Parts: sequence; C-alpha cells; structure tokens
Amino acid sequence: MTRSVLGIVGGSGIYDLPGLEDAQWVTVSSPWGAPSDQVRIGTIDGLKVVFLPRHGRGHVYAPSDINYRANIDVLKRCGVTDLVSVSACGSLKEELAPGTFVLVDQFIDRTIAREKSFFGKGCVAHVSMAFPVSPKLVDSIEKAARAEDLTYRRGGTYLAMEGPQFSSLAESHMYRAWGCDVIGMTNMPEAKLAREAEICYASVAMITDYDSWHPDHGAVDIQTIIKVLHENAGNAQRLVGRLARDLPREHEACPHGSDTALEYAIMTAPDK
Ligand code: ADE
Repeated sequence: MTRSVLGIVGGSGIYDLPGLEDAQWVTVSSPWGAPSDQVRIGTIDGLKVVFLPRHGRGHVYAPSDINYRANIDVLKRCGVTDLVSVSACGSLKEELAPGTFVLVDQFIDRTIAREKSFFGKGCVAHVSMAFPVSPKLVDSIEKAARAEDLTYRRGGTYLAMEGPQFSSLAESHMYRAWGCDVIGMTNMPEAKLAREAEICYASVAMITDYDSWHPDHGAVDIQTIIKVLHENAGNAQRLVGRLARDLPREHEACPHGSDTALEYAIMTAPDK
C-alpha cells in the first residue's frame, strides 16, 4: 500500500497553511534549480501535508518566473502522491461569479515562455494529458467543498495564459468563444509536470474577477483581485483542512493512470 501524502501549492494570497500540526519550513533542494520557497511540512489528523507557496512568501515570483520543474520535483521528493493546486483566476462565464471555486478538469495551454518538461535530450517521454486531473482526488475535494458549504462548480476548462499583463478584450472574447470557463497564469506547466512526475493533480481555481469581457464589470485590476482574494483565502483554508481530514490514508490508484504515467511514455531505449 502507498500512504497518501497531500501536497498543496498555494497561489496568490495563500502563503501559509494554518492548521498544520508540528509544522516546519524545510529547505529541499532540486537539480532543476531553486523552487519558489521552502516547503511547509506538517500533519493534519496524521496525514502528511506538504505546502509550497507558488509565488514564494512575499509574492516574489511572477507566473513566468516560477521554476515549475523545481517546485514539482521538491514535492515529489517529499513523497507527495496527491497534489492540489489552489490559484486565483478570472471568470469567462456569466454564471461563474467571483467567489466561486471551480474544480477544473481541462486546460488549454497558451503559455509560451516556460520550461514544460523534465524530459528532453537523452531521455524522451510523451505522457498523456487527455485527462489532466485525477477524478478520485476531485471527488475528495468536492466532498470537502460540499461539507464546508462553499460555492463551487465541478468541471471547467482553464485557459493558461503567459501574462503578466491581463488579456485584451479581443483575447477575452476569443477564449470565451473557445468555450473556456476560467483564465489564469499558473496551472500550466504545473499540471503537465505533475503528470510527468506521476503525481495525481487537481486544481481549485478561485474566481476573483470577470476578466475584461463583462460589459457590467470594469476591466480586471489588481485591487479588485486582492480584495476578493482575501475573501477566498479563508474558504480555501477551510477546504484544504477538511480535505486533509477526510482524504483516504491509502493512496487510491488514479483511473486515468496519473500515478503510473511513465509506464508507456518513454521512447528512449533503456541502454541509451
Ligand atoms: N488571475 C486572476 N484573475 C485573472 C485574470 N482575469 N486573468 C489571468 N489571471 C488571473
């Protein structure tokens, strides 16, 4: 049996995880370079929980400057089996109002300036990203969201943009026409790298704004985002606390094979 270890990557506004028992900030180094910060390791009801602030404490890394490979690598080194990404995002749908938590199940990756793979010259691998999130982990998150009486929606397509500038009106309309639900700057390549690291991944996208498309709302600005973020942060902390208390202690095999993703993915001959 594999014991579950819950990883949490906290986005804008989430730089610590209150409620962790015996918690310590620990330096974990990686051959992929410097991660965003130390990891906060502790337990909740006996479950090992590893927290990493994606932008670093003090919010020092812009989305394009985050070392996603190092972040995923240190989480893997800490034994994380199930990783929950928590991040702020904009809404591309009328019915998805600020304050709603979207349990994303698909991504469109429009990022262009990030290292996206652990593989390359010397060892080539192609993992499947058809189903990028692990449904059993999402089941547990949904149960926790319901128990905490949060406003959430299960399923949705996340458009990952490069940033750091927000979208133009034309881009915002285009992403809506593509059928996307939310837009953010950080879930890619995080989800791809988690898959390559054989870590089950799920994303809780916390809506802070209507991006720039909504005729009744001004274009998104950082003041609005920060205000809603503070309201969302308490809900996110309750969600994570409940999830940690209820997550099965034995890691459940992923129906989409996230935790065995490399089994049929490596192209390079073993003796090369
Ligand atoms: N993060 C929060 N709101 C966003 C938006 N509208 N676009 C991109 N990233 C965001």
